[in-house]
Amino acid sequence: MKKLSIMMVLATVTLAAVSCGPKNPQQQEEKKAPKMLVVYYSQTSNTKAVATEIATRLNADLEEIVPVELYDGDFQATIERGKKELDEGVHPEIQPIAANVADYDIVFIGYPIWFGTYAPPVMTFLDQVDLNGKKVVPFCTFGSGGMESSCQDLIKAEPGVKVLDCYGVRAARLEAMPKEVEQFLVACGLIEGEYTPLGDFSEQQPVTEEEIAIFNAAVGDYPMMHAKPESVGSRAIPGGKEYFFVAVDLPREDNPDMPPMGPMKVYVTVLDGATPEFTRVVR
Ligand SMILES: Cc1cc2nc3c(=O)[nH]c(=O)nc-3n(C[C@H](O)[C@H](O)[C@H](O)COP(=O)(O)O)c2cc1C
Repeated sequence: MKKLSIMMVLATVTLAAVSCGPKNPQQQEEKKAPKMLVVYYSQTSNTKAVATEIATRLNADLEEIVPVELYDGDFQATIERGKKELDEGVHPEIQPIAANVADYDIVFIGYPIWFGTYAPPVMTFLDQVDLNGKKVVPFCTFGSGGMESSCQDLIKAEPGVKVLDCYGVRAARLEAMPKEVEQFLVACGLIEGEYTPLGDFSEQQPVTEEEIAIFNAAVGDYPMMHAKPESVGSRAIPGGKEYFFVAVDLPREDNPDMPPMGPMKVYVTVLDGATPEFTRVVR
């Protein structure tokens, strides 16, 4: 029973990529006691939960990015202001953080995904700091996805900075986050522990009725998702199976102004006996 529950917990780990660096003894040696800072922006505390988990596990310093003019707690107002800032390239003023980024070797940067990228207060932070020569580990929370695109944006915004693998979790799956963070940090070689590397997905094949049912069960209660799976690959994970669906957006009868956005990749885990869950969408 205990073994089964450990397997199930491990199975929730769906890291996009976790090869944060080679692990030969010399490099292990070099990694000893790097100074680590975890800095994050969070409007509704999801990213704060991840930041706190990472900082606690690493015994790293933790800093919050606080905009001078706070975003309204109202979701719609935040959407409007955030969209305007992104469209107009506005990087909102932020309070200075106490830590001196220059003192650190590894800087974790956390953010909520806003419109497929990192929220504007993080853009301001990046304007203000010099990350050259540091290792940067992005992490994020999101409604459905945006980890890959935001990390690409970060790499573009910070050419020459060593951006390591990213950790991201859906807001609806925060319960799975502590174990996933542990696995991520082990895979990065930053803490001790066991890590189970996952195999490759099988080749994409047309979906069967059973796989369509799995997809629908995983995304069914997520209102933003309106998609039809076309092909799928899968791989074993501890305690279950992970699916990688290629799906197409369907027109929305309820919102004709929102055109279909083309194909997307949808990752779904099915743990033995549990309801299928989607872990992230990549557009
Ligand atoms: C302005 C705004 C834009 C958002 N855009 C996206 C998005 O493009 N993709 C997505 O998956 N979630 C999106 N979300 C959902 C947030 O990423 C998600 O709720 C996140 O966990 C919030 O983190 P926080 O609690 O740290 O602020 C958006 C939320 C807001 C307020």
